[in-house]
Amino acid sequence: LLLFAFFSIGYPEPLKRGDPKQELEEYIENKKAEINPRYRLQYHVIPPVGWMNDPNGFSYYKGQYHLFYQFYPYDSVWGPMHWGHVTSPNLVDWTQQPTALLPEEEMCFSGSAVVDEDTMVLIYTGRLIINVEPFYNETQYLAFSDDGINFEKYEGNPVLTRAPNGSPDFRDPKVWKHGDYWYVVIGSKTEDERGRVLLYRSLDLISWDFLTVLGESSGTMGYMWECPDFFELNGRYVLLMSPQGLEPQGDRYKNTHQTGYIIGNFNYETFEFVPEVDFQEIDFGHDFYATQTSEHNGKRILIAWFGMWEVPHPEDVDGWAGAMTIFRELEMVGDRILMKPVEQMLTLREENVFSGTWSNEVLEFQKTGEIVFNGDLDNVIEILIEGKEGGDQVWIKWDPQTGKVSVNRSGEVRQVEWLPIDSRSWRLFIDSSSLELFCGEGEVVFSTRAYPNGDWKVTNLSPQILSVEAYKLRRSVPE
Ligand code: FRU
Repeated sequence: LLLFAFFSIGYPEPLKRGDPKQELEEYIENKKAEINPRYRLQYHVIPPVGWMNDPNGFSYYKGQYHLFYQFYPYDSVWGPMHWGHVTSPNLVDWTQQPTALLPEEEMCFSGSAVVDEDTMVLIYTGRLIINVEPFYNETQYLAFSDDGINFEKYEGNPVLTRAPNGSPDFRDPKVWKHGDYWYVVIGSKTEDERGRVLLYRSLDLISWDFLTVLGESSGTMGYMWECPDFFELNGRYVLLMSPQGLEPQGDRYKNTHQTGYIIGNFNYETFEFVPEVDFQEIDFGHDFYATQTSEHNGKRILIAWFGMWEVPHPEDVDGWAGAMTIFRELEMVGDRILMKPVEQMLTLREENVFSGTWSNEVLEFQKTGEIVFNGDLDNVIEILIEGKEGGDQVWIKWDPQTGKVSVNRSGEVRQVEWLPIDSRSWRLFIDSSSLELFCGEGEVVFSTRAYPNGDWKVTNLSPQILSVEAYKLRRSVPE
């Protein structure tokens, strides 16, 4: 017996030493135990440990939605990029998967995923550090998977090596299929530092032909266009991207970098994109960047990094930083894109914590909640969301004099005009350290991280009674 015990204790499963993927998963598992849970979001995708930025490879494959993300596991600040990975049957319940891409000679920057017959293909930017100016170079890489979990990098990488003008800024490929061809848009810039988006096509995802400059700043639209996306929505074409370097103009462009879209017309024979409506921001909150969309079952769904460059991420001291927004369905009405929470968000509602007329009752939420409210838009509406024991305070306000909705996070104000289409109702989602406000049918949306001490309390400060339904929302992502 003793001998048996000795053998079974003394000879554990042989560890595959030197397997970097397995070592990384073990590291993540161990590190998770050290995380302070106070700000961990409960129904938003967050990194298991470490740092997260852009959404990548948002796609549907073999019955599951796949979302990858820019990931640095070893610290809660940006570092050599990996691709983290989660999957979901329904866009709300997410399961953590093993890290899909690890950096080797290349850091694995942002990119997209497509399904080619039975294979899932990731297309991403490999960023190399080099020892001549400008000390980096960006080219496009592929990785393949037959199960949507294990990815092999293509041995012929990189597949696309140089922007036509030789710019080293050449990143964030977003691929789609149209007819027999794969198309890709890639973010880049001109020699005189104007942001632009390049369009290529390919028959096999490996050999690519440059087609045209799909869009370009005339000088006022920033020095670099990151994370481009291009798609048809309700019969029109949309160039969605994240320009860097827009100068603030009144209420507009108040974040470090912005995300927005140009509506236009496109022709697959001439490859010409003719803009019809000027650039508009797609979300008006403090923390929203680097969007990516995917179409499945006729619905165009958007996801964004619920974060921003060069701002504090107060959860970093807890061992993690960064999150994804909730998933939103897009619709074009007139000359603007509406963003609504995907309908599956309704399945997160648990108990109804308050219902009816809302005057001065304080609504309390243990971490999560959804508040649907209605008021008279001829009158001021004002709601205060704050930590029960201090921390951030966020005022949401409708001002009938200016026709603007504002979100004031502890003094930092973001605001925009709201022209309701039909519905005048508001949907406010709160999670442990975030809020997302959807006005009407998604004409105006604000995504803002906010950090309470303790649980949340929400007070109606309006000089009017509102009607309200409030729910607790269930957890739908791993702790
Ligand atoms: C956008 C971005 C991308 C890049 C990635 C690097 O936030 O700067 O352009 O691929 O992040 O993490």
